[in-house]
Amino acid sequence: MTSAKHPSKEAFLQAAREEALLGGGKDRLEQQHAKGKLSARERLDLFLDKGSFTEMDMFVRHRSRDFGMDDNRPLGDGVVTGYGTVDGKQVFVFSHDFTIFGGSLSETFSEKICKVMDLALKVGAPVVGFNDSGGARIQEGVLSLGGYADIFLRNTLASGVVPQISLIMGPCAGGAVYSPAITDFIIMVRGTSHMFVTGPNVVKTVTHEDVSFEDLGGADSHATKSGVAHLACDNEVEAIKSARQLLGYLPANNLESPVTLATEDPDDREESQLDTLVPENPNKPYDMHQVIAAIVDNGEFLEIHPGYATNIIVGFARAGGRSVGIIANQPSHLAGVLDIDSSIKGGRFIRFCDAFNIPLVTLVDVPGFLPGTDQEWRGIIRNGAKLLYAYCEATVPKVTVITRKAYGGAYDVMSSKHIRGDINLAWPSAEIAVMGPKGAVEILWKRDIQSADNPDSLTEKLIEEYREKFANPYIAAERGFIDDVILPRQTRPRLIDALAMLETKIDTNPRKKHGNIPL
Ligand code: HXC
Repeated sequence: MTSAKHPSKEAFLQAAREEALLGGGKDRLEQQHAKGKLSARERLDLFLDKGSFTEMDMFVRHRSRDFGMDDNRPLGDGVVTGYGTVDGKQVFVFSHDFTIFGGSLSETFSEKICKVMDLALKVGAPVVGFNDSGGARIQEGVLSLGGYADIFLRNTLASGVVPQISLIMGPCAGGAVYSPAITDFIIMVRGTSHMFVTGPNVVKTVTHEDVSFEDLGGADSHATKSGVAHLACDNEVEAIKSARQLLGYLPANNLESPVTLATEDPDDREESQLDTLVPENPNKPYDMHQVIAAIVDNGEFLEIHPGYATNIIVGFARAGGRSVGIIANQPSHLAGVLDIDSSIKGGRFIRFCDAFNIPLVTLVDVPGFLPGTDQEWRGIIRNGAKLLYAYCEATVPKVTVITRKAYGGAYDVMSSKHIRGDINLAWPSAEIAVMGPKGAVEILWKRDIQSADNPDSLTEKLIEEYREKFANPYIAAERGFIDDVILPRQTRPRLIDALAMLETKIDTNPRKKHGNIPL
């Protein structure tokens, strides 16, 4: 039957589509805009390549009969789902529509999301979700809870198989937060997005604390205090741009490698300013961002978690066109020491890169692990082990450059040769030893110093001797623990050379169901 013979059927379809496209209607769309938020469809329009979106399940309606719901069964049921492309690469998407029942999740809403997630897994393409929801649809009771659990399961099964990105564009509360929490990256928007297990009212009742939505679960709180959000953006457009940028560094799935892009930045570019970056005084800080900017293609670096645990820097860049994950101690914050938060931040990032075949580039300037009762009692042992474990199990190409300090256990942890670092380089300013000169001298020569006529001058002299003997890269180089000592300006060419050599690297771990990372 041609539609020409049955214009009414075509008109019916057209009208139904138009109705679905309006979501909860014009008034609610205006309310959405008045809150400073885009609609579910506007978000997808901005995110996906122009004209690439194919919608699925536009005609799905909920099956709820209670509370007068049988008279209110909007098309699409509050979530827009389907697939499209970002820079030509396929992605699966779902976008909560707050204009329909506050974007609350029903049984059918969940089925729509599960359908695209199942397809994404079979096809091997990333899943990107736009969250803007009042949570479980109250009228559906346990059906809604079941729907959430169906998504949680799929988030977990997809973890490490296809990249998953969550953009939080509105409320995301209660158990609903656990779907984004399982995904790889969470991007939030200042002022309009909130995540919490219980909102300010419940907090007030239970703990008597007065706290605003923004302070409790806003973008900045999660991007700086809790570490839940990987990026905090000023508005939705910026958040969507970040998600597109992020996808550019990732492969479609765990069986593929990220695309290598042609770059005009010469592989052999030397940066002489690196030769004088590390101060003579080992206690003086410098900004490791400068090293990163100097060695990656065009100085472009997408930092992840830029406001959280800033004593370690993680993020994506390209070197010689290849996508790399960078993990770097930051001497300008807490001297680059490893503590609980930085270990967790680094560990999770490393595991993501390893799961998705993204080589790891580690820049080391670390005085050790942070001492103190706070850290010990909160479990620096268990948490620091996460970073160590992540580096040990990673089988992607691993290139390490020690710029200055690599002391104690932190030397081992930061992608050392012993835990399968492939190419380990050191600048002449590197200091590789069990501990820093002062600590070592005070332990080894404690009695001599105590009985000396002039303890300070003896300490100074011993520190100088120790520094001369141990605080350099050559003992490690003699053993082959580092492969070469390089001039700082040669870092980019040497890094790209190493990555090219490692392109076909294959390494494996013993067969197992899964390891038992110290959670
Ligand atoms: C059904 C809901 C809803 C919900 C909102 N709506 N949340 N309908 N189930 N969970 C409806 C409202 O009734 C309203 O419909 C419309 O959506 C817009 O909501 P407003 O309240 O007018 O919007 P706003 O002022 O912006 O406030 C948004 C909000 C608030 C902060 C999200 O709606 C709210 O607190 N909702 C309840 C949140 C909640 O407690 N959810 C359950 C969490 S527990 P009308 O027709 O009146 O405009 C949970 C468990 C998950 O989610 C467990 C997983 C394991």
